[in-house]
Parts: sequence; C-alpha cells; structure tokens
Amino acid sequence: MSSPFRIAPSILSADFARLGAEVSDVIAAGADWIHFDVMDNHYVPNLTFGPMVCQALKPHAKKPDGTPVPIDVHLMIQPVDALAAAFAQAGADYISFHPDASPHIHRSIQAIKAAGCKAGLVFNPGTGLEALDWAIDDIDLILIMSVNPGFGGQSFIDSALRKIELARKRIEETGRDIRLEVDGGIKVDNIARVASAGADTFVAGSAIFNAKDYASVVTAMREQLDASLNA
Ligand code: DX5
Ligand code: ZN
Repeated sequence: MSSPFRIAPSILSADFARLGAEVSDVIAAGADWIHFDVMDNHYVPNLTFGPMVCQALKPHAKKPDGTPVPIDVHLMIQPVDALAAAFAQAGADYISFHPDASPHIHRSIQAIKAAGCKAGLVFNPGTGLEALDWAIDDIDLILIMSVNPGFGGQSFIDSALRKIELARKRIEETGRDIRLEVDGGIKVDNIARVASAGADTFVAGSAIFNAKDYASVVTAMREQLDASLNA
C-alpha cells in the first residue's frame, strides 16, 4: 500500500441487523481499516457492542483476496483494562482508550501491547495532549476526537485541526512510526483540510454508511487525500 493514508469506516453508522455483510461491503468499497466504537453507557451516554461482536466480525475483516483488514477498536469505556484484554482475544488489531478513563495509563498501554495489539491514546475535544508527555514512546497511534464521543453524525469541531498539528509535531519529535487518526464529522469536503493539518488515518461513519454507494464516498475521499499531497 503506497498511500500514507488509511480510511477507517466506523460501523457505528452501519446497519446493525446485518453487520457482517456491512463490514464485507465497506471493505469491497475500499476501506483500509474497520473502526469499532465501543461505548459503555458510563464513560459515554451511549451503549454499543462488546468483544463477542468483534469476534463474530473478525472473519469478515478481510479483502476479497483474503488479506486481513485491521480492526481498530476505539474504547469509550471506563475502566479500560479488562475489556481491552477481551478485545485483544476477540481479534482486535489496534486498541485505543481515553487516558482520562484509566487511572494507570502506562499499565493499560502495556496490557494492550502484551496481548499482541497496537495501542492508542484518544483525546477528546476538550482534552489537552499532556498524557503524551510520558506515554508517546510506548504507543502506536494517537486518535484526535473532532466531535465529543458517544454518537455518530455530529459536526466537525474546528479546534481539532490545531490539536492535530500539535500531535503531528510530537510524533515527528519521536521519529517513530505512530499513526495520527481523526474521528468525528469527517466528510469528503473536509478530509483534505484534516490531512493538511497532519492526520494520516480517517474515521468516517455517517459519511460512508448513510450513502447509497459506499465505494463512491471512499473513492472521493481518497481523491481528496491524494490531491492534498500535491497541494
Ligand atoms: C463517536 C465515534 C465515531 C463516530 C464517527 O463517538 O467515536 O467513530 O462513529 O461518526 P461520524 O463519522 O458520523 O462523525
Ligand atoms: Zn470512534
């Protein structure tokens, strides 16, 4: 895969009555990752799905030629550690959590990595990047929320762009390969702007799953991203 960009459709906006087919369809449409939003009615007001659903979807997370497609688990839960381990067992590839949801951030990261997954930290619109000071050398992904977590279909919060720029600088200082993902309100008409701020991985729920033709949206997003490289 030569493009630096990854498009990660969030199945939060998929048809829950036919999730396996939705995962297969969106991969056929060009998805690079599958974004899996876990909500607990405690850290966030909404309630979604757990490790059993992840395990059931794992066989669907592959391209038609059999190449595995990473499952990107976004934990909006408190506490973190026990369910993170269960998601690792259930086939997650990336597991990200909100640092304000764990009393021991370093321990949670180590637990995710010890279980064989890549670990990420997630920052809410109102949360600064301070947790990176002591954790950036241990993580594989930074996820910047551009909406408040809990629901799909919200509008992009512009201050996320400044935070993405700051996070990109922090990643460059490490010299390590850390993905910089953005989540919330991503559409064809703003994705290039978000890429220019420094993001390389883009969650999109409603923009893709509310469309009739998933491929046309994924392709249009990729064209915008490619154009942003030459801008
Ligand atoms: C919100 C979730 C997002 C959500 C994005 O808490 O983390 O992943 O599905 O949905 P859209 O793309 O509709 O903003
Ligand atoms: Zn998410």
